[in-house]
Amino acid sequence: MSPHDDDRPHTADEHTADARGDAATSELPSDPARRRTLGVLVAAGSAAYACALVVPAARFLESPTGPGGARWLRVAQAAGLEDGKPVRVQVRGELRDAFTVTPDVTLGSLWLTKRGGEFLALSAECPHLGCAVDLASNGAVFGCPCHTSRFALDGRAESGPSPRGMDALATRVVDGWIEVEFRRYRQGSAARIEVGS
Ligand code: FES
Repeated sequence: MSPHDDDRPHTADEHTADARGDAATSELPSDPARRRTLGVLVAAGSAAYACALVVPAARFLESPTGPGGARWLRVAQAAGLEDGKPVRVQVRGELRDAFTVTPDVTLGSLWLTKRGGEFLALSAECPHLGCAVDLASNGAVFGCPCHTSRFALDGRAESGPSPRGMDALATRVVDGWIEVEFRRYRQGSAARIEVGS
């Protein structure tokens, strides 16, 4: 017997419960086609919500910079370099994090030397504590002004507290431009451990 078959007077609570039951039932479309449509809409909404969460993470993971931020950046025209004479160049490019991209900012600097048909790129960031490595006035050696580390022109550490030589970056020439694969490494470590750039 349903509650509505009952002849006795209904209490206020029973009326309220009935009303709630009717309302809950009326919220579900009785037509199977409408129910299917509602199901599709709910599924689409869930998928959109999932995408909103996943896409920024995927963008971060699929970033062409890779986990350490390495990327090829154009730094100088190959024809502008004299053989054996280091030139300091700025490295400019996009600064990226998981959610933002800031275009055309200075990411660092490096010493670029032409050696025959090859190009040597050495990060100007001192491996000791990150001061800017400079070229000695005689042009024969690199030196760090902070704690007097000294490096040969090929980047080898010669003296001072730097735990390793200057960090060399891969180079290539594209359409007459020298490009470097820009990376950063942890300071104060004998091992080259890449960090984000
Ligand atoms: S930061 Fe270069 S020697 Fe210390």
